[in-house]
Amino acid sequence: MKILAIETSCDETALSAIEVTKKSKTNHSVRILADILHSQIEKHKEFGGVVPSIAKREHALHITPIIKDMLLTLPSTGVIPNEVSPELFSALNKREEVLAEELKKIAKLPAPDIDAIAVTYGPGLEPALWIGIHVAEVLAGIWKVPLIPINHMEGHILVSFFENDHLNIPHFPLLSLLVSGGHTELVLSPSLGEYIKMGDTRDDAAGECFDKTARLLGLPYPGGPHISLYAKHAREKGNPPLMHLPRPMINDPSHDFSFSGLKTAVRYAVDEKKLSDKEKEQMALAIEEAIVETLVEKTKRALEETGAKTLALGGGVSANITLRKEVKRLEERVHGVDVVLSSIAHSTDNAVMIALAAYINTLNKTIHTENPLQAAPSLSF
Ligand code: KG4
Ligand code: ZN
Repeated sequence: MKILAIETSCDETALSAIEVTKKSKTNHSVRILADILHSQIEKHKEFGGVVPSIAKREHALHITPIIKDMLLTLPSTGVIPNEVSPELFSALNKREEVLAEELKKIAKLPAPDIDAIAVTYGPGLEPALWIGIHVAEVLAGIWKVPLIPINHMEGHILVSFFENDHLNIPHFPLLSLLVSGGHTELVLSPSLGEYIKMGDTRDDAAGECFDKTARLLGLPYPGGPHISLYAKHAREKGNPPLMHLPRPMINDPSHDFSFSGLKTAVRYAVDEKKLSDKEKEQMALAIEEAIVETLVEKTKRALEETGAKTLALGGGVSANITLRKEVKRLEERVHGVDVVLSSIAHSTDNAVMIALAAYINTLNKTIHTENPLQAAPSLSF
C-alpha cells in the first residue's frame, strides 16, 4: 500500500510518501519514497514562538512546490486526471486564491501511483491545519483516492514502532509518554488503536518549559535543542547543575504534570544576577535534569501501576538524548517492559509519522470519518 501524507499542524510543512508491505500480522516492511520538510523556524524566531497567521501563510506558500518536487520522485500512473470538478477548489477559491491556482496546475500533471492520502486534522494551530486539510481534500479529489484524517499525537506514538525499514507492532498494553511543544501526556493503549489518557499537564508542556526557560537564558527559539546542547557542555566539563530545581508533582499520586513552577524558579534565579556562559550551561543542566527526572519517575510509576508491556516515547522532546537514555533505562528498572523510541529524525514533527499512522489505522479499521473534514485544534485522545 502506498500512502502520501501531509502535516501542517504547527511550523513545519511536511510531506511524505511510504510504501508498506505486510510480512505478518505484526511485521510490515516500509519503504520511504519521499520525506520532505520545510521548516518555518526562521520566520517565527523573532517572536519567540509560533505565530499562527505566519504559519498559515508559510504553509500556503511552500506546500505546492513540495508537492511538485514529490511528484518528480514518486512512481507515476502516467495518467493525467480528467474531469476535475471546479467544485473541488471552491473552499480555497474564496480565501487562498494563489494556492487554488497552484493546485489547478498540479491537476494537469500525471497522477502519482498512490492508494490514499493522509492528513493531520488536529491537534494544532487551526489556520495551519486548514491549509493541510484543504490541500489534501483537493488532491484526493483530483487523484480519486481516499482521504485518511490523522491525529497528530497518534502519529507521534506510532512512529516509535518504526525501525530499520520495518514497522513492528509491539506487545500490548502499551503506555506512551508524549512530550511535545504543546503536550505532555501519559496514554494507555490496552490494544492497538485504543487510547486512554491517564495524565496530562496542568499548565505548561515539557517542550514549552524547555522553550520558555531557554528564552530566560537568552537562547533562541525553539529552546529544547539549545538547552540540551548547553547541558551537554556542562556535563562534558564536569560542571554540576547550578541549583536544584523543583521536580513538580513528582510524588503526586495522579499521573498529571505541571511545569510552570519550574519556569518560575528559573526566572527568579536569572533575575537575581546576570549568568556567565558557564553558569548558563549549568542552569541548562539543572533544567534538563529536573524535566527528565520528573517525566521518567512519573512514567515508571504509571508502568508499574498499569502492568504495560511496552513503553513508547514520542513527540519533539523525545529528540532529547538524556531523556532517551533514561527512558530506555526503564527496561532495566521495571520488570518485563520493552521501550520503543522513534528515531531522532522522526521525533520532531514530520509527515512519515502521519503516513505510518494512516497505514496502521487502515489495517486496524480505525479510520476517523467526517465529511467534510474539519480542523480539530484541540483534538484529544
Ligand atoms: O512535536 P514537536 O516537533 O512539535 C509539536 O507538536 O509541538 O515538538 C517541538 C518541541 C519544542 O518545544 C522543542 O523545543 C522540543 O520539542 N525539542 C526538544 C529537543 N528537540 C526538540 N526538547 C528538548 N531537547 C531536544 N533535543
Ligand atoms: Zn508534534
